[in-house]
Order: sequence, then C-alpha cells, then structure tokens
Amino acid sequence: MLKSINIRKCSILDLEKLKELELVCFQDHFHENFNFVLKSKNYSYFLAEEVGRIVGYAGASILYDESELQYIATLPSLRRNGIAKALMAVLVEDLIKKGVNKMYLEVKEDNAPAISLYKKLGFIIYNVRKKYYGDKDAIVMVKLLK
Ligand SMILES: CC(C)(COP(=O)(O)OP(=O)(O)OC[C@H]1O[C@@H](n2cnc3c(N)ncnc32)[C@H](O)[C@@H]1OP(=O)(O)O)[C@@H](O)C(=O)NCCC(=O)NCCS
Repeated sequence: MLKSINIRKCSILDLEKLKELELVCFQDHFHENFNFVLKSKNYSYFLAEEVGRIVGYAGASILYDESELQYIATLPSLRRNGIAKALMAVLVEDLIKKGVNKMYLEVKEDNAPAISLYKKLGFIIYNVRKKYYGDKDAIVMVKLLK
C-alpha cells in the first residue's frame, strides 16, 4: 500500500466527504445512509485517507457473531495500490474484536475487481441469487474469521 495512506475509523464528521467519495466510486446511484450507520453500534466503518482527503472506505453490519460487508470502495485514480486490502484487514480485525466469527458479502457477478479482491482475501462462494440485480446474478461469499 502507498506509504502516505492512513486507515482510521469513520466519524460522523467525515459524512460529507464520504458521500462525495461514494458518488465518484459508484456512479449509478447513492447507496449508503452514512448518517445512520456512522452512529450505530451495529456497524463498523473505516476509511483510508491521504493528506486530509478520503481515498477509500469499507463498512460492515454486525448481527451477533455474524457480519455482512456493506460497501468497499477506493478512489478510481488510486486503485490497485492495496488500499481495499488494507481497509479489509483493519475492518476484519475490528469485527473479530467485537465477537464476529463469520463474514458474508454479496457482489454482482460482473464485478471482476471486487470478486478478485474477495477471493484473494479468502472468501468463498456460498450461494448465487439468480437475477438479483435485474439481468445480473448476485454472488454471495463467506469467510470464517476465526
Ligand atoms: C473493488 C475495489 C474496492 C478494489 O479496490 P483496490 O483498492 O483497487 O484493491 P486493492 O489494490 O487492495 O487490490 C487487492 C487485490 O484485489 C484484486 N483486484 C483489485 N482490483 C482488481 C482488478 N481491477 N482486476 C483484478 N484483480 C483486482 C487483486 O488480487 C489485488 O491484488 P494485487 O493488486 O496484488 O493483484 C475497487 O475496484 C472499487 O472501488 N470498485 C468500485 C466499487 C465496488 O465495486 N465495490 C465493491 C462492491 S461493494
């Protein structure tokens, strides 16, 4: 990962910058209710920053000993620098501290970069939800954290 990148927990003060990053990373529509998830104990969100600007984020929901990855994204110009991998490592460490032992995620079948990332991190395919995204399937993946 780039040496100048720092990973830290998201705060409600990051709200506007996170929304801006999300719009750049997911051009199709606005996804996350940051105002809710950043205040809730049932979610864990981390961001990557480089000299004051947010360049990536990852967040997961927590339900007892299970978690579901909500979103992960890296600024397009800084992709393939290990930022998502570093975000996931810190997120998973936090989830384990909170008692999570199994993590799920869902990804569109044609999202090759994300599927490749998840496989590299040890997630395996658990289920396929046919035509979940209209014409595209959703791949459900899982990983035992401990
Ligand atoms: C998926 C995404 C988060 C990856 O972020 P990233 O910071 O570029 O990922 P990293 O640099 O940490 O990559 C780690 C590993 O993932 C895999 N990977 C990431 N991008 C890849 C790509 N475009 N093609 C193939 N493999 C890829 C590789 O195995 C990579 O390791 P390597 O670079 O040593 O080969 C990024 O492409 C993104 O923001 N996409 C748009 C948002 C999105 O679709 N999020 C996921 C659904 S919620």
